[in-house]
Amino acid sequence: MIPAEISARVAEIKWHHSIDLGHGIITPGQDNSPRKLSRLKLPGSLSGKTVLDVGAWDGFFSFEAERRGAERVLATDSYSWNGSHDWGDKRGFNLAREVLNSKVEDRDIDVLELSPERVGVFDVVFFLGVLYHMKHPMLAVERVASITREMLILETVVDLLWCRRPAMAFYVGDELGRDITNWCGPNPGAVLGMLKVAGFKRMEIVSGLRPFWFRIARAAWWKRKRGFGFRSLMRTDRIVVHAWK
Ligand SMILES: C[S@@+](CC[C@H](N)C(=O)[O-])C[C@H]1O[C@@H](n2cnc3c(N)ncnc32)[C@H](O)[C@@H]1O
Repeated sequence: MIPAEISARVAEIKWHHSIDLGHGIITPGQDNSPRKLSRLKLPGSLSGKTVLDVGAWDGFFSFEAERRGAERVLATDSYSWNGSHDWGDKRGFNLAREVLNSKVEDRDIDVLELSPERVGVFDVVFFLGVLYHMKHPMLAVERVASITREMLILETVVDLLWCRRPAMAFYVGDELGRDITNWCGPNPGAVLGMLKVAGFKRMEIVSGLRPFWFRIARAAWWKRKRGFGFRSLMRTDRIVVHAWK
């Protein structure tokens, strides 16, 4: 595909991820995917590993796993790939895979349907930006644990940061980011607790809470850009956890 054709097709799609497609073309995603990648602290090499990317959307992290040498990568999703909630669809993933000449496989399946019988077991599982969309978070973590052989990399929103005990906020409406698909905000203790209950033996928060000034700046930015509630943004942050079986 020539660069002009790639650019034209990119322009037809609503993107989530910012994917470098070469020829100076970067998909105009709302997500700062390279910055998120730097917080994930992925293993430098995934050579010989099988990787499952749960909730892959446009596939930025699936393609990154392939780039790091994974032997097999499966991208799964359902919600955004089916055009739900005006989020976009699967055209971004399909186009990026074609342009990058990628062998990443895909499967349309809900998180709660994941099981060894349905998808198999993977050495490394990515569960990025999905937990807080789960109405049944513990069940989702159990499903993800069931298909993880060695290591889980989990990235999520966290809430109730002042609470010392494991606790979880339940979003009845669009309280978090004016998005009715956000259901829960566990605090870091609850994230670690759920992973432990789901059978992980060792957990490490590899990217934790950002400094207070960062949260103020971020809350002010989102309030100005989209009118999000300043206080609810100040209450939340995001963390990345590595967990091992
Ligand atoms: C915030 S996006 C995160 C995308 C990507 N993993 C990342 O970190 O940039 C949440 C993703 O989870 C998916 N998702 C939400 N609920 C889901 C469900 N019940 N089953 C499967 N995927 C789901 C959405 O379709 C969307 O692609």
